[in-house]
Amino acid sequence: MRKIIMDVDTGSDDAIAILAAIQSDELDLIGITTVAGNKRLEYTTENTLRVLELAGVKIPVYSGCREPLVCNLLPNRHGDYDGMTGVGEEVGEDGEKLEYHTDELPLPPSHGRAEEEHAVFYLVNTLLHSDEPITLVLSGPMTNLAMALRIDARITEHIEEIVFMGGGFKEFNSTAASEFNIWNDPEAAQIVLTCGVPITMVPLDATHKANFTLEDAGELRGWKKPAADFFATIIEKRVAAYNAFQPQELADSAPIHDALALAYLIEPEVLENVRLMRVDVDISGGFADGQTICDTRTFPDRTPNVHVALGANRGKFTALMKQLINQY
Ligand code: BDR
Ligand code: CA
Repeated sequence: MRKIIMDVDTGSDDAIAILAAIQSDELDLIGITTVAGNKRLEYTTENTLRVLELAGVKIPVYSGCREPLVCNLLPNRHGDYDGMTGVGEEVGEDGEKLEYHTDELPLPPSHGRAEEEHAVFYLVNTLLHSDEPITLVLSGPMTNLAMALRIDARITEHIEEIVFMGGGFKEFNSTAASEFNIWNDPEAAQIVLTCGVPITMVPLDATHKANFTLEDAGELRGWKKPAADFFATIIEKRVAAYNAFQPQELADSAPIHDALALAYLIEPEVLENVRLMRVDVDISGGFADGQTICDTRTFPDRTPNVHVALGANRGKFTALMKQLINQY
């Protein structure tokens, strides 16, 4: 079994990734760290605890960074997560605000609490003292791991692989050049991408090729199980939001981004067209701030550092996720 730690900003798609990880026989989820992202830290931690309640398992949750490393210090960037446009809502063509990432995930109340130890110290201590290498799955802004790397870079000797959902090759969402997780802490992402351990990037270009449909939601509902119902609700909510702005060929479908990164660890074939490239994050504060710059040149002048998934196998991904969620 591969030991993993998930770093999340739960988040509806993070929630599905966590539920899947718990059911996998290939993965041993030893801890979950939370970060501000989809919502401010209190909510992402609370949502994570509520997902564990739904799953009926006890896995330690460590609350982490509530602010990005640097970008919030810049004038005209953004304030705290609570007030950020693009976190809880998307704006439709007519200016109407559309629910996008729901604050109120349909989850049971949690009876658990986050651990006392801060997520960053948990990462440092756990990695440094682990006899086995640990894989890190990141599905939010990368602030926690970047901080851990700056505290003690020897943790890299204990990381087997970093898999993250984030960034874009040609597709972006927060700005014309940047994906949400990277945009919300570009400096942290650049620290992580240059840390020297094997990295797999699951960008929007891949997640958008593996959408779940209303038909999938209907199938999940038919099972009449709480976790499957929860998954179905997430799909339906996301489809409702996405339908307002996506092209006709994607109508009635929506991505569950973070789950694809997790699924790759169980069945690598869910990702397609994976290419090793040099990837750096633009941290210059201009129009391309937060862009993942993927060097496609035959002879890049910096060492290739990231396996970038440019595609995904929708059939394999949806089948795997259904199989895992059906185990609840
Ligand atoms: C990413 O942004 C977050 O809102 C989602 O949870 C996902 O991790 C998609 O850009
Ligand atoms: Ca996320």
